Amino acid sequence: QVTNAVKVLISDKMDPRAAAIFRDRGIEVDEKTGLSPEELSAIIGDYDGLAVRSSTRVSAAVMDAALPRLKVIGRAGIGVDTIDVPAASARGIVVMNTPFGNSITTAEHAIAMLFALAREIPQADQSTQAGKWEKNRFMGVELAGKTLGLIGCGNIGSIVADRAHGLKMKVAAFDPFLSPERAVELGVDKVELDELLARADFITLHTPLTDQTRGILSREALARTKKGVRIVNCARGGLIDEEALKDGLETGHVAGAALDVFAKEPATENPLFGTPGLICTPHLGASTNEAQVNVAIQVAEQMADYLLLGGITNA
Ligand code: MLT
Repeated sequence: QVTNAVKVLISDKMDPRAAAIFRDRGIEVDEKTGLSPEELSAIIGDYDGLAVRSSTRVSAAVMDAALPRLKVIGRAGIGVDTIDVPAASARGIVVMNTPFGNSITTAEHAIAMLFALAREIPQADQSTQAGKWEKNRFMGVELAGKTLGLIGCGNIGSIVADRAHGLKMKVAAFDPFLSPERAVELGVDKVELDELLARADFITLHTPLTDQTRGILSREALARTKKGVRIVNCARGGLIDEEALKDGLETGHVAGAALDVFAKEPATENPLFGTPGLICTPHLGASTNEAQVNVAIQVAEQMADYLLLGGITNA
């Protein structure tokens, strides 16, 4: 009989290696995606662990339905903003993420966005395939010699800095958690936000969304940027005031913005859509084969360790 078996629910689409790891370690796994909050609440009480990507929202109400059995929620990815972490802590449920599995992939997406902005690649593609051959319309800018302002210089920001150096960009970083020694090691200028805004030709955001970072590119901050600045956001939508960005693009103060993330997702409509100079992707920052394998393996191993070993040590 398996009634005492440790059980995990995978509630978002995840690389099959996650389920395989759980099973190899003797953990029962169910994979049920696309559940409504009510459907999730109805079944979550049968599980010791819940593995999610970004579609499942884990609210306090879901956690209440999960008690007393649920011990761990694992996020195959970095941001845990889809999980009510204080509510989990208050209920003794551990929340874990995989901070390294998709860092390179997300950094590469940010670099791709820099190039897309500098040369208007999506717009030029659209025009060319429409048979227009607008050779004179698309006059780009070089990245070499330009200053890249990093807002956030942690796991992902530091990889972006490394790649930007390869492109011969100068890199300035605003990050209160960046030590002066680490800044030297990374070859970035550690600066205050105001200085970054004043100096950067390109700005890219790499911070989580917290009470401190929400709206960090506010209307006031955008007004202090260089005329012609280009902005990349592959982090979280709430970091930028979208209305103010729209105004900046319309007046031409902001020459371009490449957004992978939006204040409201899925962003099937957004007031910014259609604004000149705007390039969008649908939260693809972590979407590579490699990253999704990495995060699936990491989340399953961490959760299995916690459920099988953590419980014993704590007993
Ligand atoms: C993350 O937090 O890991 C990324 O935003 C990617 C994702 O949502 O899966």
